[in-house]
Amino acid sequence: GVYYFHQRTQRAKRVTFREEVKHILEPFQLTDEQLRRVMANLNTEMTNGLRSDDEREKNDLAMFPTYVHHGPSGQEIGEYLVVDLGGSNFRVSHVNIEGRNRIRLNNKIFLIPHSLLLGEGDKLFDYIAECLQRFIDDNKLALHKPADYKFDLAFTFSFPCNQTSLRQARLVSWTKGFSCTGVVGNDVVLLLQQAIDRHKGLNIQVVALVNDTVGTLMACSSIYRDCKVGVILGTGYNACYFENVDNVPKWKGVRDQSRKQIVINTEWGALGKHGCLDFIRTSVDRELDESSSTPNQQVFEKMISALYLGEIVRLIIVDLVQRSILLPGRMQKTPSLRSDYNIFLILRGSFYAKHVADIESDNTEDLSVTSSILTSIGIHDPSYDDCYLIREVCRTVSLRAAKLAAAAIAVLVNRLNQPSVTVGIDGTLFRHHEKFKKNLARTLSRLVPRTHRLVLSEDGSSKGSALVAAVDRRMRETGFS
Ligand code: GLC
Repeated sequence: GVYYFHQRTQRAKRVTFREEVKHILEPFQLTDEQLRRVMANLNTEMTNGLRSDDEREKNDLAMFPTYVHHGPSGQEIGEYLVVDLGGSNFRVSHVNIEGRNRIRLNNKIFLIPHSLLLGEGDKLFDYIAECLQRFIDDNKLALHKPADYKFDLAFTFSFPCNQTSLRQARLVSWTKGFSCTGVVGNDVVLLLQQAIDRHKGLNIQVVALVNDTVGTLMACSSIYRDCKVGVILGTGYNACYFENVDNVPKWKGVRDQSRKQIVINTEWGALGKHGCLDFIRTSVDRELDESSSTPNQQVFEKMISALYLGEIVRLIIVDLVQRSILLPGRMQKTPSLRSDYNIFLILRGSFYAKHVADIESDNTEDLSVTSSILTSIGIHDPSYDDCYLIREVCRTVSLRAAKLAAAAIAVLVNRLNQPSVTVGIDGTLFRHHEKFKKNLARTLSRLVPRTHRLVLSEDGSSKGSALVAAVDRRMRETGFS
């Protein structure tokens, strides 16, 4: 009798737990109606951003003109160095463009000491110059070159920059946790060139500055003619696309027959700055934002990209533990569980998007994958119920991110108004997170009936940057610019 009673109360408890979790996760579940409202708001912000960049207008989106007017024609050839800064890895590449669809790339990932990301900008750029030197030496790139040979370098720099030409770009603000001093407001092409010139023996000229989304677009459009959108779904979330110059009232550059289109870097991660996403933001989103180094910036990105997914999940877990729903009886006596240092479980920043991906796709019967991940980050011996609930949390947060990401892409597909659109995508979330990718594609198909496809643009941000430089060179040589 006692045993039966025990079982019954256990089951009853479990039911109330699950109900409570459901209740807590509810604000994270988005309806299509809500997604359509996000789409409408984003669309409005895009139009406003194209109209003017007057600060007083309070536009959410920068909608930067990039000075890229043409995709690759297939006739480009050339040899380039590429520095790719701002994604999950810092990379230096040597890219050989040898004709249509023939691009060879050889690259190396260099680790950037964390202190460099938060220190003086000059130090960061000096470090980049050193890495370039090492890369050239290790690969003997200068071996068969004349003594005065100058390498052309394309700089993939994945942060919001206000460009005044292909090789002039002022950093408007850091995003994604970078925050070197002395860079915001300055021309990053110049900063890199100066660091290179300080480094004796390096013969390199920076010929183009390219956002990673633009590189991705260029690399993909060299293969698919109808590719007009480039997306990065990784540490950050952003997109660019080909817009008709006529639709860009704020464009101050040349308007002529050979430049009817221009690639616009939307910087849509900034959506929500003036409140247009408040109707779907949760208390967890606010908490994450307020404790970040950039409060009230990149509001949309903070609900979606890899840098933040793990942290959202972590905050929900902390909340559930506090309510004794998760890990019951495991709460430390220490009062404030919120402050970072005495959370006995996971510390801020130690729950990664990779964990979210692995837990959400844990289909083992005993949830052993989840259990071992939790153990590895300091939650020892979680019960089956704990694992089950945490998997539920991961699935919910990841699904919300995929839906929001899809809503944004849907806006661009609609805007382009073509019979079919190919979207070139790269980034860790898209590449390594199977479930995310599926949810993204599924939601997108529901939101836009128009024909579209999502294509992985591998190494696009580096290859594409070289292509931008190559197209520019070809246009100059044929007398177009
Ligand atoms: C951030 C940056 C943006 C970049 C994106 C993806 O949103 O502001 O420039 O394209 O991350 O890396």
